[in-house]
Amino acid sequence: MSDLFASDLFETAPEDIALDPGAMLLAGFARAEAESLLQDVAAIARAAPFRHLVTPGGWTMSVAMTNCGALGWVSDRSGYRYDRLDPESGQPWPAMPPSFLDLAQRAAARAGFADFTPDACLVNRYVPGARLTLHQDRNERRLEAPIVSASLGLPATFLWGGLARADKPRRLRLVHGDVVVWGGPARMTFHGVDTLRDGDHPMTGAVRYNLTFRQAGDRT
Ligand code: SIN
Ligand code: FE2
Repeated sequence: MSDLFASDLFETAPEDIALDPGAMLLAGFARAEAESLLQDVAAIARAAPFRHLVTPGGWTMSVAMTNCGALGWVSDRSGYRYDRLDPESGQPWPAMPPSFLDLAQRAAARAGFADFTPDACLVNRYVPGARLTLHQDRNERRLEAPIVSASLGLPATFLWGGLARADKPRRLRLVHGDVVVWGGPARMTFHGVDTLRDGDHPMTGAVRYNLTFRQAGDRT
């Protein structure tokens, strides 16, 4: 990126952007099916309610989370991990809805990753003030599979860093329906979400949802 644009300016995405080798922002990719995706989110949340997880360091996360699929990402005082069971209920996570799987596979293919078979979908819920600090997704068993991340509802500022924590992140505006895919050489890129600003989205009110698809376990 040229220095002229290296400031804090928002980059908006009227069309797809190649962020780095292996990483793409697919503008509006999920917009057409957003309504059914949100209905599926509501059904998942009835079976496995959103909750604020505690980090190993003892902080309660501002983002509320749940999961669907064979594996779910969880955090507690003992660490981060994937678990087949929802620790709140002791039951398996809700199945991944066909609409989710279809979206994830089409987005991955569009970004150059054929044959993506996610077994985990972390569902994040942000209200104004919530944020997710810069991190790598590193609890997955198979790092050759990409991450597919869909945004619904209120816009957010996505922080897209580098392969080192100290790399200054770019600030990307993600709106309803945008999908970001990162894999290959970009798989371990540091990323996060800046503090969500207040707003009122016609489909979600004052909420942003994010669906993050991973292949977390061993492929069968
Ligand atoms: C994540 O990194 O798990 C979520 C990213 C996002 O909410 O866009
Ligand atoms: Fe992440």
